[in-house]
Amino acid sequence: MNNAPIGVFDSGLGGLTAVRELKNVLPNENIIYFGDTGRVPYGSRSNSTIKRYAYQDSKFLLKNKVKMVIAACGTVSSVATNLKHDLPVPYTGVVSPTCFAAAQKTKNKKVGVIGTSATINSHSYRDLLKTFDSEIVTYEQDCPLFVPLVENGFIDKDDLIVKLVIERYMTDIKNAGVDTVILGCTHYPIISEAIKSVMGKDIELINSGKETAIYAAKILKENNLLADRKEKGDCEFYVSDTPDGFENIANVFLGENVSHKVEQINIELY
Ligand code: DGL
Repeated sequence: MNNAPIGVFDSGLGGLTAVRELKNVLPNENIIYFGDTGRVPYGSRSNSTIKRYAYQDSKFLLKNKVKMVIAACGTVSSVATNLKHDLPVPYTGVVSPTCFAAAQKTKNKKVGVIGTSATINSHSYRDLLKTFDSEIVTYEQDCPLFVPLVENGFIDKDDLIVKLVIERYMTDIKNAGVDTVILGCTHYPIISEAIKSVMGKDIELINSGKETAIYAAKILKENNLLADRKEKGDCEFYVSDTPDGFENIANVFLGENVSHKVEQINIELY
């Protein structure tokens, strides 16, 4: 048993979709979230920059004595693959739990993968899916406009701009006949409804935040690191840009009102 907090980070607020799921799966855990809002997006940056940011973000969480680090970011999980070996506490990214779920779900073995440019260029999801099931054929597409759309509140499925951008990116995947699509970036569950309205209601969308939360609970259990408190856990939020407006957007990602502490930190110090 261990009552230290779980540390979760993302380039911005997308990782809150994983926090939302973590709070469902492990309601008694304390969570410390860092959103690198001053440097978002990561997905269009070089691999060396993404790695440097990922290690700084992890260091900040470790300084806060977390018992586990979760990179709730498809980009970091795809590019900073050594984090798993370099951190002194259990670590997970989103790629493996998400691929595991997708391989179970697909029936026709045609899987779409959408993510940031860095994620798609790494082929992380494609390569791992193949190890789970060599018959799976993957159709990959980067969607660089999705993160700015979501961070700026363009999420309504009836919004013409949202619909047009999704069609622009996803028509080829749709025409390929996939039955499952990996939302390879933690921002994307926020536009799940809009994606479904373009891809058709029968499409299976795999939410990387959700699958990762389930997997993190398994790791904590196996390592005897679950909290033993009876009351609900608390969340602390840290960001690298001004927290102004954080609450409004965070409420959308978390699906509840943020009434917790939000503090700005200087991530360059880590
Ligand atoms: N949520 C991040 C991801 O999962 C967004 C990446 C970005 O900042 O571009 O990839």
